[in-house]
Amino acid sequence: MADAATTQRVSELREQLHRHNYLYHVLDAPVITDAEYDALFRELQTLEEANPDLADPGSPTQRVGAAPAPQFDEVAHPVPMLSLGNAFDEEELAAWRRRAAGMLERDDFAMVCEPKIDGLAIALTYESGRLARAATRGDGVRGEDVTLNVRTIKSVPLVLQAGVPAPLRMEVRGEVYFPRDAFRRMNEEREYAGESLFANPRNAAAGSLRQLDPRITASRQLAIWVYQLGWAEDAETPPTHWETMQWLRELGFRVNPEIARFESTDDIAAYYERWVRERDDKNYQTDGVVVKIDRLDYQRHLGFVGREPRWAIAWKFPAERAVTRLLSIGINVGRTGALNPYAILEPVQVSGVTVKQATLHNEDDIRRKDIRVGDYVVVERAGEVIPQVVGPDEERNKNRERGPQFEMPALCPACNSEVVRDEGAAAHRCVNTACPAQRFERIRHFVSQAAMDIEGLGEKLVAQLLGSHLACDLETRQTYPHLTEELATIRDLPDIYGLTVEQLAAMERMGEKSAENLVRAIEASKQRPLPPVISGLGIMHVGGETAELLARRFGSVDRLMDATQEELEAVPGIGPIVAAGIASHFANEGNRSIVRRLGEAGVALAAPEGWDAAQADGPMPFEGMRFVVTGRLEGFTRSQAESFIKERGGQVSGSVSKKTSYVVVGEEPGSKRDDAERLGVAILSEDELTALAEGSSC
Ligand code: IVH
Repeated sequence: MADAATTQRVSELREQLHRHNYLYHVLDAPVITDAEYDALFRELQTLEEANPDLADPGSPTQRVGAAPAPQFDEVAHPVPMLSLGNAFDEEELAAWRRRAAGMLERDDFAMVCEPKIDGLAIALTYESGRLARAATRGDGVRGEDVTLNVRTIKSVPLVLQAGVPAPLRMEVRGEVYFPRDAFRRMNEEREYAGESLFANPRNAAAGSLRQLDPRITASRQLAIWVYQLGWAEDAETPPTHWETMQWLRELGFRVNPEIARFESTDDIAAYYERWVRERDDKNYQTDGVVVKIDRLDYQRHLGFVGREPRWAIAWKFPAERAVTRLLSIGINVGRTGALNPYAILEPVQVSGVTVKQATLHNEDDIRRKDIRVGDYVVVERAGEVIPQVVGPDEERNKNRERGPQFEMPALCPACNSEVVRDEGAAAHRCVNTACPAQRFERIRHFVSQAAMDIEGLGEKLVAQLLGSHLACDLETRQTYPHLTEELATIRDLPDIYGLTVEQLAAMERMGEKSAENLVRAIEASKQRPLPPVISGLGIMHVGGETAELLARRFGSVDRLMDATQEELEAVPGIGPIVAAGIASHFANEGNRSIVRRLGEAGVALAAPEGWDAAQADGPMPFEGMRFVVTGRLEGFTRSQAESFIKERGGQVSGSVSKKTSYVVVGEEPGSKRDDAERLGVAILSEDELTALAEGSSC
């Protein structure tokens, strides 16, 4: 049992951290630095780990930590979650207002305006001031229980602010969204790892909330804006929407600061115009302005038509879509050989930006949407990402003779090698690892900041060095088979290390001085740590984090290169797909020779002596074993026990099966102990687990 002083300190820390979370996420006015916050957070974490009896799911430390769920439960919404009618211009807005005025028999009511956030609706239920449930909208009547995922969103309060009276039970509604900067970072990271990109922040937010493993949701850094009180029990609530929003903010909810109250449609029009101008500058996507009649008794009087309230309307922003001609379909070849089709369009303005190209994903997608060269197509600009072709504009293509269906070329457009499609994969791939387009992308990736960090070796220079600047359009990344090989100064990654000042100084726009600096940067990159070297090799699915795991486990590229698929899969955090990608990368003689030549050029391909030796070279007594941990342990928290096992090469899973090697049982173990007995799986106490790690048999 924790003593009184510890209990007191834990509760103080929790209250302080809730307060600082609120100041940071809701009021956007932090009063302490991140480092000070982290220090308080760590102090609380340490005390909680040492005193498991003080555990509390409402603690600021408990946002993540739940095990993956097998599925989402269905939840009924006590008050249905409905949608909004739309207005597309000022006249339609005025007409809506006139209808409301007619029913209310008065013309002097206030309206609240707020941005319409382009995310996903969420209903948050609080019981006794604590987050009890979070549900998606679903069909409006029934949604899915996504509580564990929503708990990881830092701007969703787990506990309401102390000192503000709150109803016993209440439901607050809002929109969960992917902040633009976090979305951009995530897509950059995914691109770097050779993973597919999310088309826009909204889809990415939806995908992130539907993850069964809350740790994935936590890594996505979603946020919320709250826009409505769903219902409240046993409490006086404010008489207007405006006051409700102020009250919710005091309770700890993140209410958008741009919310405003007006009486005239002229003022609303000015508010709307300002949003149209400024919406691209915000860190969240919006698709309109929502106008709501302020008094809640008026809202009740007006009621609903069908699924839409008469008391609110969404004045939508002009479409981010346009129609244009698809002139042709280009193909660029990525660093792992994937053939990426893209649309070459007759230039068109889409919400203020000229669009000439758009993504087309892959062959199946083009066929499913039935997009053909020569068609009029609908183009959409969604957020940060490159524009997309939504599909053909059927009306405008009606009386036209249409071209043939799109087919991926059988030969690589950059090197004429065979193109294959791996079983079950959407992408077509050029099989030639010496393909000039692949080499170009591979080098760009290798020299980038996250990998070898060779400053001064930008993509234009890479193209020149490959002799492909005459044949490679950097804007479209289109390369052509007649690549001017004889003009090439380098051919692949290792050649970078043979470049001389003279050779570099002879390149376009390069002086003696910058050539010298570049040679120095190239030299310095030989000493990069192992993880960026591994990620720089451009292995499919291996980005920064995975490279870190591999470096720790194998300690050198040589050992990684000789690892079998089974050995790779046994690395915690590496699944079969990534393991297969690595194994097939190094099954290729060309790739192995690149590694050898990098080593010969002097690039450090092994971690220094003693580096993380415990993990890299230390014994792996739990290699190949699967553990399940259940009940309360004495010397470990749950996550410490899991790390203890993983660091020693073991795997940890959430449920007992015949494949489980051991079930580690603490106090009050629950049904997993019974499962172990039923399936005849060995049971370990905590002491037996540590003994097993030290090599004694039990
Ligand atoms: S009020 C009766 N306010 O838009 C519905 N909704 O098209 C009251 N949305 O399902 C909704 N921002 O997911 C409201 N400031 C805002 C909003 C907003 C985004 C979403 C919400 C709703 C959808 C309706």
